[in-house]
Amino acid sequence: MKAILAVHGGAGKWAVDEKTYRDVKKVLEEALVEGFRVYRTGSSLDMITIAIEVLENSGIFNAGIGSTVDVSGSISMDAGLMYRNRAGAVVYAKYPKNPVKLARIVLEKTDHIIIAGDAADNLARKMGLEPHPGPLPRTLELYRNFMEKLRRGEKIESTFKKSLEMWLNIGDTVGAVAIDKDSVLAAGASTGGVFLKMPGRVGDSPIPGAGFYANECGAAVATGIGEYILLTHATLKIVEELCNNTLPGKAIEKILNVITSRFGSNTAGFIALDKLGRVAGLYNTRAMPWGYISEDGAVKILGI
Ligand code: GLY
Repeated sequence: MKAILAVHGGAGKWAVDEKTYRDVKKVLEEALVEGFRVYRTGSSLDMITIAIEVLENSGIFNAGIGSTVDVSGSISMDAGLMYRNRAGAVVYAKYPKNPVKLARIVLEKTDHIIIAGDAADNLARKMGLEPHPGPLPRTLELYRNFMEKLRRGEKIESTFKKSLEMWLNIGDTVGAVAIDKDSVLAAGASTGGVFLKMPGRVGDSPIPGAGFYANECGAAVATGIGEYILLTHATLKIVEELCNNTLPGKAIEKILNVITSRFGSNTAGFIALDKLGRVAGLYNTRAMPWGYISEDGAVKILGI
């Protein structure tokens, strides 16, 4: 089997300037090249963990360093990975700089699938993971501006969905799927969640079958409004379609049509990879920067 790695930087409006566009492209390329560096000796789990770590560290996407804040101005992150009938995930983690590394520890070193909150943070400390430095200045500025407008009593359409749509102007969750030389598939996602979410809120990204899913037929990851992705078991549905030999693009289209008809457009995006190495990315937002790399070394960036 020829190894393939695909990543995305989040569905959204991505109303970005030229510089941001260049930065997004550069980071996606770096994530693909770094993740794929290990394809001869490493597993698909290695590829996606490394790629997601690069995306978390970039500060450009809503994950890791670039995570958004909740209504109290704090960061809390979710991440999950699936590989060889195992999954590992962390929810509501505040301590680690790289929640994807903690999710991998849960997958490899525990009998469990999801570890939450303070216990996840304690595990991260115990395992010697690096601490998160806190929200970026641009994230805090966005937060302060929003809170100031609220204080001035300006009428802001501040329902949950509206605030997520605001965040989607910039971007959402990151994710990766891969198949390795042994034909084993893996999927993973990492996120700061939704801008101005309620403290304690958990989205789709750490939930197998919602934010990510992988088995012997294929792998899929989600981005967008977590509540809708949870309600539709979206990535499980995509992978089930792949088991019926549906092409990845068609499999995504099917669930995306359901999400769009139930919840509206500007709500979700997915990448999917099947066991034959066919890959697709589709979204109902204006953009979803994504790309892939395969053994011929060519890197393709799409969706922005
Ligand atoms: N898709 C990320 C979240 O809703 O938390």
